[in-house]
Amino acid sequence: MFKVTIDGVQTEVEPGTSILQAARKIGGHHVPPAMCYYSKLKGSGGKCRVCLVRVAAGSEKDPRPMPKLVASCVTPVQDGMVVENLLSQEVLEARRGVVEFLLLNHPLDCPICDQAGECHLQDLGFEHGREGTRYQEGRRTFKPIDIGPYIKLHMTRCILCYRCTMVADQLTPNRVHGIMWRGEVSEISTYIENSIDNEFSGNMIDVCPVGALTDNTFRFKSRVWFTKPFDAHRECPTCSGKVVLWNHGNEIYRVTGRKDTYGELEEFICNTCRFEKKEMGDWVIEGPRTINRHSVIGQNHYDAPYQGLLKPGNKRSLMAAKTEEVQN
Ligand code: SF4
Ligand code: FES
Repeated sequence: MFKVTIDGVQTEVEPGTSILQAARKIGGHHVPPAMCYYSKLKGSGGKCRVCLVRVAAGSEKDPRPMPKLVASCVTPVQDGMVVENLLSQEVLEARRGVVEFLLLNHPLDCPICDQAGECHLQDLGFEHGREGTRYQEGRRTFKPIDIGPYIKLHMTRCILCYRCTMVADQLTPNRVHGIMWRGEVSEISTYIENSIDNEFSGNMIDVCPVGALTDNTFRFKSRVWFTKPFDAHRECPTCSGKVVLWNHGNEIYRVTGRKDTYGELEEFICNTCRFEKKEMGDWVIEGPRTINRHSVIGQNHYDAPYQGLLKPGNKRSLMAAKTEEVQN
C-alpha cells in the first residue's frame, strides 16, 4: 500500500490509485472537484482541468515538488506523496482561471435551465468562480435541438467533457454522436439528427455535468428543488430497476438513476424505467431519498467555508481556516 498525504491528512491506497480517488477515500473538503472524470466510465478524466492539485513532494524516494500543477484524476499516487488541494493558493487561483474558461461561452441561464440545482458547473462557479467576466469577444451560440425522442441538446451549455460519448461507447452497441471539429468550434453532434434512441442512451443525461443534455419528458415541469425524491425499484428485465422518482404529490415528474456523493450514478438504468414508467403503480417505493450533496436541492445546505478566502485581497491564510475547521 502507498501512503499519501492530502491537505495534511494521510491515507493508504493501492498502487495505481489516482490522487482524486485517494482524496475521495478521505472525503470532505479534501476532494478536488471533477467535471469530466467519472469513475464508472473507462478512460474518462484529463479534459477539464478543474481537479488540478499541487504535488508538494513527489514520493518518499524523490521528495521534490512537481514543477506544475497536475490533474488529480489522471495522476497516480506514489508512496510518500504530499498533495495540496485547498491549502494551496496556487491551486485555488488556477481553478478560478479554469472556471472562467469554462464559462467563456456558457450562458448564465440557470433561471431557466433544468439542470439548475444539480449542476456541477453551478456549484463550481459558486465555490471557485470570479464575480465578473473579462470576456468581451463574441460567444458561440447554438439553437437547442432534439437528439432523439427523449434528449434535448443545448450545445451552448456543453463543456466538452466527453462523458456522454463514453456512455455511448461503453453502454450502447452503436455510438451515433460525438464531438465534431477541433478547438473553439468543437461541438457535440449526431451523424443524423434525431438518431439517439438506444435503450441506455438516457444515462447521458445523468452523466452530463451541466444542462447540455436534458430530459425532454421533464423540461420546464418544475424546478428540481420543488420535487420530492424517493428511492424506488421495479422488476426490470434490462437494468437493475433501482431508481430515484422525483415527485410532485403523487405525480412522477422525472425518473433518474441513483447518484452517489460525487454525483456519479451508482448503476446505469434503461430508457424504459427512465422515460416510460411514470405511474406510481409501476414502482415499489423504498422511502425518501436523502440528498447528501452540497447542492441547492438540499436547500440551505450550501457549504463553502473557503469562499470568502478566495477573494483577492483577503490576507487570511487557508491554513488558518483549515486549522480552525479541524479545531471546531
Ligand atoms: S453534452 Fe454534457 S456530457 Fe456531453 S460532452 Fe457536453 S457537457 Fe459533457
Ligand atoms: S476531472 Fe480531472 S481533468 Fe476533469
